[in-house]
Amino acid sequence: MSKEQSSKQVVGYAAAEYVSDNMRLGLGTGSTVAFFLDALAEKIAKEKINVVCVCTSQETEDYAKKLGIPISTLTETPHLDLTVDGADEVDEEFRLIKGGGGALLREKIVAAASESVIIIIGEGKYVDKLGSGFLLPIEVLPFGYASTKTQVGQKGGCTPYLRTIESGEPFITDNGNYIFDCKFDDGIDNPEVTHSILSQIAGVAEVGIFLNLCDLVLEADAEGNLVKHSTDYARNLFA
Ligand code: A5P
Repeated sequence: MSKEQSSKQVVGYAAAEYVSDNMRLGLGTGSTVAFFLDALAEKIAKEKINVVCVCTSQETEDYAKKLGIPISTLTETPHLDLTVDGADEVDEEFRLIKGGGGALLREKIVAAASESVIIIIGEGKYVDKLGSGFLLPIEVLPFGYASTKTQVGQKGGCTPYLRTIESGEPFITDNGNYIFDCKFDDGIDNPEVTHSILSQIAGVAEVGIFLNLCDLVLEADAEGNLVKHSTDYARNLFA
């Protein structure tokens, strides 16, 4: 396993330690979350705990089902105890950029339905300024997307690129929408303001800036050591 993969494994397995019997869980999306799913499946088998899980993407649902993890829907289980998800960037104020895998809309809905959210990241994702290294994903409706793109660029002060797949066709999300990856030349100066401006543009379904949706960050450093970044809320909750 590469160094990068093993750092993802460290945080994925560390997050599983926060799971206990009878929890209602939100399952994020991505390569780091896949390790959490492995750890969760092992924990369920070993400790015989009961959990019910809501997935943030088809990809996660397919993998969770393969591992035998019990799946529910957010309609059946509208209130969750804990969500574990990855992120593309995290700053010291627990603000996130998400959507590298295109699942940001469901990820935000599931995180908002959760009592607490743990974000698991490998090395290099903890940043001084959001948007300086990663393009901000925005999910938009296909209808009139060229017009939405102009608005996003002008009002958001960024350059949006339509995400495409290998064939050159647009990437389609689980919700049937498109993604713009938005470049901010000097990063995002004020994530709250940018989030508010972009969210108000007609045709934008969701913005990949996550605010107040992260309680604890589990990060693996370059050596693969676990580093915890806790909000006060998480310090009390997970004491
Ligand atoms: C999915 O849309 C994203 O928000 C992922 O959670 C994020 O891209 C992290 O993915 P990796 O764990 O694969 O880096």
